[in-house]
Amino acid sequence: MEFDVAILGGGAAGLMAAARLSERGGLSVCVIEGNAKPGAKIRISGGGKCNLTNVSVSENNYLGDEILVRSILKRFDEHALLKWVRARGCEPVVRKKRYYFCPRSAQEMIDILVNSAIETRFFLGDRIEYVRKEQGGFLVTTDKRTLSARNVIVATGGVSYASVGATDVGMKVAESFGIETVPFRPALAGMTLQKEQFWMKALTGISFPVTISVGEKRLREDMLFAHRGISGPAVLSASLYWEKGTLSIDFLDGRSVESLLKGGGNKKIATALPLPKRFVTEFLAVLGVDDKPCSSVTPEEKTALQAFNAYTFAPAGTFGFTKAEVSKGGVACGALQPFSCESRAVKGLYFVGEVVDVTGELGGYNFQWAFASGRCAADHI
Ligand code: FDA
Repeated sequence: MEFDVAILGGGAAGLMAAARLSERGGLSVCVIEGNAKPGAKIRISGGGKCNLTNVSVSENNYLGDEILVRSILKRFDEHALLKWVRARGCEPVVRKKRYYFCPRSAQEMIDILVNSAIETRFFLGDRIEYVRKEQGGFLVTTDKRTLSARNVIVATGGVSYASVGATDVGMKVAESFGIETVPFRPALAGMTLQKEQFWMKALTGISFPVTISVGEKRLREDMLFAHRGISGPAVLSASLYWEKGTLSIDFLDGRSVESLLKGGGNKKIATALPLPKRFVTEFLAVLGVDDKPCSSVTPEEKTALQAFNAYTFAPAGTFGFTKAEVSKGGVACGALQPFSCESRAVKGLYFVGEVVDVTGELGGYNFQWAFASGRCAADHI
């Protein structure tokens, strides 16, 4: 069997590439997907509603090469994606004034992509094993067949959530062609704690808005105390930028503890601070400060209470690939053309989506990247 384009992986990036190639027409295209149905991660994303993009997307929301990210997003940004989806009868809804979701279910997004890829031959339940170069193109071998293609788009994603079909085959393909890769690490994952922070475990289930600082990055969203450590959107995004070492949490999300205490008068600290009382009580015990009237807080205690604005500690690690929404790392950005994601070294071989060393924060950024990069590769062929 011969194709103009073989797309490896029927997830967000691969399906968008197939949809775009169908729109353009004139090329024979196949998608090879290990699962019995395409779009497994889309189906479970965003709590089953797929957070497909964000009201504001820029290279600043990504860990990855700025030039590549900017160049690809410019060619298919959040407005273009929304227009494309709306033209297919789906009106995404905005939540928290930031995140665009499918109105009813993530299946709507899968249906749009699959129905737009009408000119595509799907090989479902085929496990891709390797890709070889041949005269004028490539040979793609799966556990069931070998087919040839003039161009190959590798859209096999990262290794998080192996339970829904994720594998490292894309990295292996890159490495077999001598293309530089960066090892995958879990990202958008909860974080585990060292024993000095085990007090947080007693707060399981409590959630409130915080600002987390990791290096130069500031992440503002909700944090959730969990059995295994800390989680919630702010922590998940922080895990993207964290490798090792410390991070700092402002539990008051920008409000100064000093002014809140000043305005608290005779109210006790746990009443004056606009935070869940159970959290304040627990944290005061950690700081060695009694829950007393704000007016009687000593200068030493005031210094200790600054930790409400900047609690700095080193997490032990992350919840790992089984819980990480994405994998950071992948095919090195520098190995790809910034306008098409085509390999600089191997003409006709493209890498798109999560298999590339570009990873977004929580909030629809990863789908935006997957859709934009898949589309750019398709446009270039
Ligand atoms: P994706 O993983 O979608 O597709 C790769 C495909 O390749 C898969 O279908 C896989 O089965 C196939 N494949 C892999 N190896 C193969 C092999 N050897 N043979 C054959 N097929 C193979 N992002 C976001 O922006 N908003 C959100 O709401 C969420 N929510 C979310 C929830 C959860 C639980 C997870 C795990 C992830 C998210 N994400 C997200 C992240 C998002 O799902 C992810 O970044 C994109 O799906 C990446 O798209 P890709 O097409 O690159 O990979």
